[in-house]
Amino acid sequence: MPETLQQIAEEILASDLKDMYPNITNVVPGEGSNTAEIMIIGEAPGKQEDLEGRPFIGRSGKLLTKMLEEAGLDREEIFITNSVKIRPPENRDPTSKEKDLWFPFLKRQIIALKPKIIATLGRHSMNEFLPDATISVVHGQPQKVGGLWHEHQIVLPLYHPAVGLYNPSQKEVMIADFKKIPEI
Ligand code: URA
Repeated sequence: MPETLQQIAEEILASDLKDMYPNITNVVPGEGSNTAEIMIIGEAPGKQEDLEGRPFIGRSGKLLTKMLEEAGLDREEIFITNSVKIRPPENRDPTSKEKDLWFPFLKRQIIALKPKIIATLGRHSMNEFLPDATISVVHGQPQKVGGLWHEHQIVLPLYHPAVGLYNPSQKEVMIADFKKIPEI
């Protein structure tokens, strides 16, 4: 029997990896439809996400939901997760080691869901699939990535919503990129 997203979430919640982070409130496995055709992968939970155990519910999450709506997509129909499932201390960037340690869970989530599109938010999750890509060059351009659950998956690199919070002039480009999701 193939494993389900629920089984993987239970293992993520029980994983020893949380021992690396003494001051967290919650592990954040991800949420959304288990028949989603779209999987969104962010970087790591922030403060609000840590407090509630859900991905993308703080300021970045609100902008993400809005950009999805502008692209005609309903957040409930998507599966949303992060490369790293625990908030790094002081909101620092996740390290390569952390990303490598969490990647097997992410890969299992992808194999269980079999999404038609994997949309990565920001360079951290993009580089898990496209190690040499530069986000300012490839954002909004679907890339074929081999060997996760299919010979080729479509990975769509998108800017992280935090970019739009710090730099509102980028929002127009970001929404245009989000609109590629239904087109693809
Ligand atoms: N930023 C992320 O990358 N992920 C979240 O879940 C929240 C903010």
